[in-house]
Amino acid sequence: MNRIEAQKRIEKLVEELNHHNHLYYIENKPAISDFDFDLLLVELQKLEEEFPEFSSENSPTKKVGGDITKKFDTVVHRYPMLSLSNSYSKEEIMEWENRIKKLGYEQIEYVCELKYDGVAIGISYQNGQFVRAVTRGDGVQGEDITNNVKTIKTVPLLLKGDYPDDFEIRGEIFFPLNAFHKLNEERKESGEAEFANPRNSASGTLKLQDSRIVASRGLDCFLYGIYGENLPFQTHYDSVIKAKEWGLKIPFPEKKYIYKTKSIDGIMDFIQYWDIERNSLPFEIDGVVLKVNQYSIQNELGFTAKSPRWAIAYKFKTERVETIIEWVSYQVGRTGAITPVANLTPVSLGGTVVKRASLHNSDQMEKLDLYEGDSVYVEKGGEIIPKIVGVNLNKRKSNTEKIEFISVCPECNTTLTRNDGEAQHYCPNEKNCPPQIKGKIEHFISRKAMNIDGLGNETVDTLVSKGLIKNVADLYELHFDDLLKIERMAEKSANNLLKGVEESKKVSFERVLFALGIRFVGETVAKKLAKEFKSIEDIAFASEEELISVDEIGEKIAFSVRHYFAQEENRILIERLKNHGLQLSVSKEIEVDTNGNLKGKIFVVSGVFKQFSRDEIKALIEKNGGKNASSISSKTNFVLAGENMGPAKLQKANELGIPIISEEDFLKMI
Ligand code: IVH
Repeated sequence: MNRIEAQKRIEKLVEELNHHNHLYYIENKPAISDFDFDLLLVELQKLEEEFPEFSSENSPTKKVGGDITKKFDTVVHRYPMLSLSNSYSKEEIMEWENRIKKLGYEQIEYVCELKYDGVAIGISYQNGQFVRAVTRGDGVQGEDITNNVKTIKTVPLLLKGDYPDDFEIRGEIFFPLNAFHKLNEERKESGEAEFANPRNSASGTLKLQDSRIVASRGLDCFLYGIYGENLPFQTHYDSVIKAKEWGLKIPFPEKKYIYKTKSIDGIMDFIQYWDIERNSLPFEIDGVVLKVNQYSIQNELGFTAKSPRWAIAYKFKTERVETIIEWVSYQVGRTGAITPVANLTPVSLGGTVVKRASLHNSDQMEKLDLYEGDSVYVEKGGEIIPKIVGVNLNKRKSNTEKIEFISVCPECNTTLTRNDGEAQHYCPNEKNCPPQIKGKIEHFISRKAMNIDGLGNETVDTLVSKGLIKNVADLYELHFDDLLKIERMAEKSANNLLKGVEESKKVSFERVLFALGIRFVGETVAKKLAKEFKSIEDIAFASEEELISVDEIGEKIAFSVRHYFAQEENRILIERLKNHGLQLSVSKEIEVDTNGNLKGKIFVVSGVFKQFSRDEIKALIEKNGGKNASSISSKTNFVLAGENMGPAKLQKANELGIPIISEEDFLKMI
């Protein structure tokens, strides 16, 4: 490559890397894999070494990725928050270890850790008190997100034991997978776009202005690096282990999340172990981190402009395969949201056969720039969902056409709409578009909503197709004789269905509100609205300002609620539900029967129940003269257990010999 070509290529690489840094750190929408990013970075590094005259002060090779958004105060780090050099092969790790060996120390120790795929954080403690939490930002200065980090349950606000007076502990905040799936489930239920992956949603959550929402999301952390003046430790491992005594959440040595070794074999075993076991972790990692343990050796090794020489990351390679995109189909959700799906020539990836991959929305399709018959790269990271990450342009056939996003609904032919600032297209034909009709009814009858026993999605499909129901109010007008006309519907099933429908009239107002399927009104929002306004009429008549004044209700939700009630057919539907006896206001204050069946009995309620919410169960206990306690003690009379009761509670109840009763046992008691 001559000088002019090199200059051009360097400029191009700088521009591209800056663009990807922005997408990753600011937009939370990475467009290429870490591996591809590093390939570009290495290419730039090499060119800059060969042609130093074209290397600039602000080149991405000299900068830790990251930037500052405007919303939070900026804080200069006391100790720069550096990055790690990445490696993808065991040879590179051996080279790194060889370089360190050459220093000639007799006994070099290494600490092997997991590389948590989350958001880096530095938390300062003074005199045992939490003072501040700052993001990495550009490595020199970060954003003060103290209020948000304070809400994370595993971050203590007060330390215990013999902690140093003034120090900073660094680590990673991440979304545990179960909390992430729960959040996406809720977003799906309320018709919101789902988050792409746990790392992006952790980052997005930490940048929220309302720390109450942060608190509700269940973020977690591992803290793995202590910084301060005159700290009383000689090694990294000892400092981390000690931090546990102060109440800080450090990686678990007993689960091999952190592991000390003196040999390269020990390092390789650790890499090998986690390359397989990472799939069973309850959070995501994207590699492991290897660090020299002794501070004295760390100091001798020092730093490059970007990262310490005494540490290196080994990144796991995400498996990637190539296959043909056969066609793109479009799914219509219950809110009318259109999701494009790529149908692929089946290909084996990570132990399963992949046939389909979501393309999310038209922007994503545009970004991939797909043409008919394209050969595409498919990846599956820690997440189960396969993802198309790019097109093999070398294999693109000539004379093929670009795959354009549809303009009309594939189910009902209505012209699609897209609101400003939203990524999703919608079919506006709410009342007549078949998947929307079915989807709304399926949502209404679902377990967390009306929980109608005896009615499943297949039966809903049949009832809609036969014209027996068109909306949820029609369910309450179904007749026994009509049901018997349906294939495979025997008398018993018909009776069960009608009984389930009848029972649902007892379901609490907050759940009915959720069941209506108003866009953006998920379980939590429905609870808030029910608690604040008490009746459907008051919600329907609430102004936008009144709605927004409720905790956690923003303009988007307020607009959606107003839009729902502005439509006459929705008001008619609610009137019909009301006439059928559904709970459309909160039930009156419960009168406590001090001589009830449960008089003097103390209950601990745990888990998820079939017929009632936990609050409803607790109210029933009090109504019948019993008392609720939050933790199990020798005074507890009964533990009322639903699904997924916490294992700690179960163990304690067994230890103390306290009877564990089911929802059914309880109902018999009252
Ligand atoms: S040590 C100076 N240890 O990886 C070295 N980093 O690519 C500081 N990370 O910014 C980092 N797990 O956000 C370290 N066990 C671990 C880590 C870890 C995840 C992240 C961290 C860092 C990034 C560097």
